[in-house]
Amino acid sequence: MAELTLPENSKVKAGKVHPAPENAKSPKTFKIYRWSPDDGKNPSLDTYTIDQKNCGPMILDALIHIKNDIDGTLTFRRSCREGICGSCAMNIDGTNTLACLKPMAEVTGDIKIYPLPHMPVVKDLVPDLKHVYAQYASIKPWLQSETPPPPDKERKQSPDERAKLDGAYECILCFCCSTSCPSYWWNGDRYLGPAILLQAYRWLADSRDEMAGERLDNLEDPFRLYRCHTIMNCTRTCPKGLNPAEAIGKIKGMMAERQG
Ligand code: SF4
Ligand code: SF4
Ligand code: FES
Repeated sequence: MAELTLPENSKVKAGKVHPAPENAKSPKTFKIYRWSPDDGKNPSLDTYTIDQKNCGPMILDALIHIKNDIDGTLTFRRSCREGICGSCAMNIDGTNTLACLKPMAEVTGDIKIYPLPHMPVVKDLVPDLKHVYAQYASIKPWLQSETPPPPDKERKQSPDERAKLDGAYECILCFCCSTSCPSYWWNGDRYLGPAILLQAYRWLADSRDEMAGERLDNLEDPFRLYRCHTIMNCTRTCPKGLNPAEAIGKIKGMMAERQG
């Protein structure tokens, strides 16, 4: 897994220390990024030592235990607890991943947790996703067709056509990939990044969609698509085992094909 640089770390000071409960049988220490827009303070790295016997085995279980039983001010997103909503994405032990799918036992030593890198932070571990969702909307992530659907029937696909969506439809928009991509770090204002480009490919590959030409026109730009330099951090980081770099390569292939 790719180690990520977090330049903002230099400003992060040691924060509050919450010691292990008395008689803890299986202590584990978390160092968690804290920042609030309300108090004007610099970010800090707060320390929480928990007894693993008091919660489930995943890092999200530990965060919920900390919030419920130790420090109610700790702020993070989560919903499904099953790796399907994408909301608990964060940087754990140097890698972007989903807290609900990452067992505590996989991390030796203290567990360091930061928000997804290179995104504005709303509070603590919650990144501001406004920009990336605006980029998502820009690719029109819905089926576009001028042909009306058959009356009283769905639009059909053959098994082979449907198989072309494998590896793309499973994306949960957690943005672990985009926030591990150096090109997105430095040009995220204009480069769409691997998560959005994988989604763009998902609609280009859909046999029912009739707007491939317009979709490619929308991506034909030195920044929106071509800032991908095949560094592959995105594919190494994806917690769902998807390959956004390959999808980006396929879009570039479609561009080349139509240019003849
Ligand atoms: S392959 Fe492209 S999208 Fe993936 S990390 Fe590299 S530059 Fe970013
Ligand atoms: S491709 Fe993987 S890492 Fe990127 S948004 Fe989708 S599920 Fe998350
Ligand atoms: S809580 Fe939904 S992916 Fe982790």
